[in-house]
Amino acid sequence: MHVAILAGDGVGPEVVAEARRVLEALHLPQMQFEDGLVGGAAYKVSGHPLPEETLQLARRADAILFGAVGDPDCDNLERHLRPEQAILGLRSALKLFANLRPAKLFPELADASALRPEIAKEIDLVIIRELNGDVYFGEKGFRTTTDGYRQGYDVMSYDEQEVRRIARVGFETARARDGRLCSVDKANVLETSQLWRDVVIETAKDYPDISLSHMYVDNAAMQLVRNPGQFDVIVTGNLFGDILSDQASMCAGSIGMLPSASLDAAQKGLYEPIHGSAPDIAGQGKANPLATILSAAMMLRYSFGLGEPADRIERAVAQALAKGARTADLGGALSTSQMGDAVLAAL
Ligand code: IPM
Ligand code: MG
Repeated sequence: MHVAILAGDGVGPEVVAEARRVLEALHLPQMQFEDGLVGGAAYKVSGHPLPEETLQLARRADAILFGAVGDPDCDNLERHLRPEQAILGLRSALKLFANLRPAKLFPELADASALRPEIAKEIDLVIIRELNGDVYFGEKGFRTTTDGYRQGYDVMSYDEQEVRRIARVGFETARARDGRLCSVDKANVLETSQLWRDVVIETAKDYPDISLSHMYVDNAAMQLVRNPGQFDVIVTGNLFGDILSDQASMCAGSIGMLPSASLDAAQKGLYEPIHGSAPDIAGQGKANPLATILSAAMMLRYSFGLGEPADRIERAVAQALAKGARTADLGGALSTSQMGDAVLAAL
């Protein structure tokens, strides 16, 4: 079990350090860690946010534990040199097309949710976000219109095999849960979404046991705050999934709580909190490490088939919260490492 640790920028190294402590405390035989540079941190050393060495490490490793990328110092670089390109590059080079973003409210955090507690407590959903296509990876650029105006463009597209493989992940995930899949698109306006919807409906023929519904993304954004308990599994494209998963995180308490797994066809995975590098609080020990700690649990479960230690981590997080452990995002005063201590104590 060779784990690449790519901590990245901002709060990335702080939160990853806590997840690593938790993994080490489990004393899993044969788990080895190897660190690599990524994002702005890599750019500053080697002139590229995803150096070849880091990409090779990621390919060699059995799984990747990732922190966050994004550094305001790098915002004016050419796009291909910006820190964000590192995570996009890894997702694409390793064909990590399926992004699983579970959002479940820890009952202790009902008061931290942006929603009323009686609505928030119903949240228990997974967003399956397609991660290799859409407007993220289409042709993009700047040009001048015939009237002489500057114009930016990003092409949105999906082909049917891209939709089919993520739809299957959606159906399979629903099958292992409550059997309900909601496909989110914008088929009333976008051809990309019409194809998406057609292919999801075709794929449903192989999953007669799953109840499939469709929702436009604007309505889904509304339903997520109105009645999030109605969702079991949501499957959606790259851009809509990016937006809806941030929204779901606030409904479930804090963006500091949501883990994610990005998987390829063989379940090789990259595991990362859904939050970013949070440069405004970087280096201050304020970040909530729970999303990363929970991402490490997902890694044990999905990449290594270690369900039991994964459960242990999740129980320890729940216990720490039950005992009142709270970082600033949850309305408390614990530092990043004190929150790590609280989880270790519960472990
Ligand atoms: C996420 C992030 C990334 C994305 C950024 C950092 C490129 O927001 O993982 O949700 O847009 O996918
Ligand atoms: Mg995002």
